[in-house]
Amino acid sequence: MSKFIKNTIFLTPLLLFLAFLVYEQHISALDAIFIVVGAAFAIYMNFRNQGPSFNMAALNQNEQSLLFLNIMENLTDPLVFLNDNATIFMANKSATEMFGSDLINHRIADFLMDTDALAAINKAIKTGKSDTVEYSTSNPRIRNYLLRIHVHDKSNQGFPEDRTILLTIYDITSIREAERMRVDFVANVSHELRTPLASILGFVETLQGPAKDDQKAMMRFLKIMQDEANRMTRLIEDLLSLSHIERDAHIPPSENVALKKIIESVIETLKFRLEKRDMTTRFITKDLEGKIIGDRDQLTQVFQNLIDNAIKYGAEHSEISVNMEKYEDSKTTKKYVKITVMNLGAGIAPEHIERLTERFYRVDTARSRSLGGTGLGLAIVKHIIQRHEGKLSIESEVGHYTKVTVLLPEKL
Ligand SMILES: Nc1ncnc2c1ncn2[C@@H]1O[C@H](COP(=O)(O)OP(=O)(O)O)[C@@H](O)[C@H]1O
Ligand SMILES: [Mg+2]
Repeated sequence: MSKFIKNTIFLTPLLLFLAFLVYEQHISALDAIFIVVGAAFAIYMNFRNQGPSFNMAALNQNEQSLLFLNIMENLTDPLVFLNDNATIFMANKSATEMFGSDLINHRIADFLMDTDALAAINKAIKTGKSDTVEYSTSNPRIRNYLLRIHVHDKSNQGFPEDRTILLTIYDITSIREAERMRVDFVANVSHELRTPLASILGFVETLQGPAKDDQKAMMRFLKIMQDEANRMTRLIEDLLSLSHIERDAHIPPSENVALKKIIESVIETLKFRLEKRDMTTRFITKDLEGKIIGDRDQLTQVFQNLIDNAIKYGAEHSEISVNMEKYEDSKTTKKYVKITVMNLGAGIAPEHIERLTERFYRVDTARSRSLGGTGLGLAIVKHIIQRHEGKLSIESEVGHYTKVTVLLPEKL
């Protein structure tokens, strides 16, 4: 409040000066009122922007305890206090949500089932040394936690027990998952590159040795080597493309595009491959241009991958149908352009469907490889659609069909 008063004191000379101006008839009384109100408002805003100054020392013991309890209670990470019997005497809201509603006066071993974590807690109680351990739970999915065990002795903390243990628990599942994915990814890439490379090196050796003078074998081997080298090139291109999409994931696309044109040109470029398998396409747009805000090159990649899959995994001599229509999400009332790509054929068993967009996941790896696949197509598709704030879903019936649906937000 004192700041407000200080500011107000500055108003006094201003008031005197204005009174003088009005008296001398330099300004009207109304002008003076406007100036005073304006100045008061400016001071008020200045006062407000400074915000309340908060001084911990000004709080009494009770207020400080209340404040700390409040902070503890509302922390997002679980906190649990144990006595030297490993019995809980205090826990915050997050801990209660994590372990159950009835924690107080129960032993921590009733809730924390990990033997290593419990052993570490018991050891800390005995030795008085703080510790950190990691543990995981698997119900229903694997989750990883970091458990910090802080020991407080009565001598310096003022707790009711002789020795109090504070447990803080951090959910580190996403960190561990990211690490695992990175390790898997490097292993997968190495494996995918090693296979064609080993094959090329094998043929080089054969051509240098046993098949040195065999013209026919040479032509055949060179063709295989070319195919393998092409496969490696495709893999590198897909990896680069994936890394570019990830890099730009948070930059919203900004081009005005018409999906109809993009899909038509994709079908045109895949004509040769369609003919090779005696397949046709039917593109139904219902007079829709499919105007959205998007990234033309990336959207081309989406439909190239989807129609390419339909050609590769669809039945020979069959028709691929591509449909475009408007769609409104009944929950959010958000408007989309909905595109479905459907092919007939062997289909995909339900247990694979959820994993198809993972990098390098294929139902039949050998088949995908022999058809020139890298296993990255649908991962690329998923990332591009995410960048466009769209949705991707896949449904299939084994022995009948596969249908991929893409929703992209309509341009308003
Ligand atoms: N239309 C489809 N019909 C049947 N299976 C499909 C279809 N599209 C994708 N799949 C399956 O999903 C896997 C992953 O697809 P994708 O990421 O495009 O990799 P790739 O085509 O390089 O194998 C494929 O290997 C295939 O098993
Ligand atoms: Mg593919």
